[in-house]
Amino acid sequence: MRILFLGDIVGRTGRDGVLSRLSGLRTQLGLDLVVVNAENASHGFGLSPAIATTLLQSGVDVITLGNHAWDRRDLIGHIDGEPRIIRPLNYPPATPGQGSVVVALADGRKALVVNVMGRLFMDPLDDPFRCTNELLGKHRMGATVHAIVVDIHAEATSEKWAFGHMLDGRVSLVVGTHTHTPTADHRILAAGTAFQTDAGMCGDYNSVIGMTKEPAVARFVRKMPGERLQPSEGEATICGIMVETDDATGLARRLAPLRQGGLLAQTLPDF
Ligand SMILES: [Fe+2]
Ligand SMILES: [Fe+2]
Repeated sequence: MRILFLGDIVGRTGRDGVLSRLSGLRTQLGLDLVVVNAENASHGFGLSPAIATTLLQSGVDVITLGNHAWDRRDLIGHIDGEPRIIRPLNYPPATPGQGSVVVALADGRKALVVNVMGRLFMDPLDDPFRCTNELLGKHRMGATVHAIVVDIHAEATSEKWAFGHMLDGRVSLVVGTHTHTPTADHRILAAGTAFQTDAGMCGDYNSVIGMTKEPAVARFVRKMPGERLQPSEGEATICGIMVETDDATGLARRLAPLRQGGLLAQTLPDF
């Protein structure tokens, strides 16, 4: 299965960067499954139902979220009706929405997508390691699903690495989101799981993690409340990782980063 995961879409420029390229990338790269993190898609904060619908109608199969899941309150009433939008698994029981979804591809193959949030330097949620183990007790690659993609939305690289190693051999891809900065450590772990600490954002990199520089810098310099942060509107670099998995085992055969548009060095998977 050929899977593309794109990191946090930030604001209009991030959305435009993704939407303008997605159908071309689907064809060019022969993609079977596209997963995007869209916790910052609506003006940097949250995801509106209308934007979610546009993404899902434009070639995105599953949308993941994170700590900004509920910044747009209208998503709270929408998420239960749209299982292709998932929020972190380790929110308290009875939180709207689900932390995972099984999607069927056009050809009948199935993929499980999971979204989970780390706890180091983040809101204190249920244990992501235990929650994910519990969920994976119900799904096996090569048996119930052909591939499993896990978005670990977390601040600390150590927590993400530990999470990747815990899942090694049991899922196709563990990819980090939330720090909005692509890491150069994409690799296949010892037991066959593809891993990258952070996919990077789809947004303007002439910014502070996607938000305009001046107010973001002032927050650190002045230590005073300032203007509300706004998404930076320069051209986005869309950032993510592509993985090809073996349908029989679900494990990764190859992976490569993708960075297109904007300021970052460009790269496109060539397999
Ligand atoms: Fe984010
Ligand atoms: Fe986040």
